[in-house]
Amino acid sequence: MEALKDWAMKAIQADITTLNVDAIVNAANHSLLGGGGVDGAIHRAAGSGLLEECRSLGGCRTGYAKITRGYGLPARFVIHAVGPVWRGGRRGEAEQLAGCYRKSLSIAAERGLKTIAFPSISTGIYGYPIEEAARIAVQTVKAVIGPMTDPPEVIFCCFSRQDLMVYQRLLQQRVQRNPESK
Ligand code: AR6
Repeated sequence: MEALKDWAMKAIQADITTLNVDAIVNAANHSLLGGGGVDGAIHRAAGSGLLEECRSLGGCRTGYAKITRGYGLPARFVIHAVGPVWRGGRRGEAEQLAGCYRKSLSIAAERGLKTIAFPSISTGIYGYPIEEAARIAVQTVKAVIGPMTDPPEVIFCCFSRQDLMVYQRLLQQRVQRNPESK
């Protein structure tokens, strides 16, 4: 049973705007009105319809997320999550980052979405150390989808080869620690 669930999570290296999935997650900011990094790439690829819908959302708090349609993207929906700015690790960043993954998965479940791709939230412009952020991402997703009878497929979409190696190592360790999956 546990071994089957391991297939529900995988890491790839790609530009998230190219993925043909039910939802991609955006690493957004409070305003939800676009920015640099993956946020800028998503808005450019989706077109102006996305910004218009985002304007109607009234922003979003750190650690939470809101959903829009995907417009010009291959993905049907975009879930805009607001990660924490890294301020040394003692300002609740870990809980806020975990909240992004939990809330995004909860929105996806409400809509019945079966494939969801996450970028490495907060680890670019917001400065969250990649090792720590990736550990939180993998642990949080596992905790949410682990008990589900029909879990969505979760893709950790890494932009760089270095990030991909971090995620793959974490996913691999998790499999090795699970005696049922051998
Ligand atoms: N596909 C996948 N991942 C990407 C892409 C892409 N096209 N482009 C960048 N990344 P960042 P943050 C990776 O900076 O740290 C924006 O201005 C990137 O390499 O996009 O959460 C927002 O408006 C990194 O691994 O987001 C906020 O103000 C990851 O995406 C702020 O940046 C996240 O990097 C959010 O900062």
